[in-house]
Amino acid sequence: MKRGWSAEAGAAWIDLDVPQCGYCQSGQLMQAAALLAVNSKPTDEDIDEAMSGNICRCGTYPRIRVAIKQVAYGKQPGGFFPPVVGIPKGDAP
Ligand code: FES
Repeated sequence: MKRGWSAEAGAAWIDLDVPQCGYCQSGQLMQAAALLAVNSKPTDEDIDEAMSGNICRCGTYPRIRVAIKQVAYGKQPGGFFPPVVGIPKGDAP
């Protein structure tokens, strides 16, 4: 794990508004740190596997995944959320 990771992770967590109630977040951060200590460039599957078992009743999993990827790969111009697809132009409500 590189130095300052917890500060980077904390910044990503705040930047992406990851916590809801915050109850699970210390455990989520510790688990994310453990993942990045052994895998500095995790895939979505790596993240899902590593983070499984740490329950978040608020359902912050998508933002946790993005925060981990932001720490691992840096902040991306378009973000890590996939673009919205499947709505043809002119058919949107
Ligand atoms: S943020 Fe509420 S349980 Fe995870």
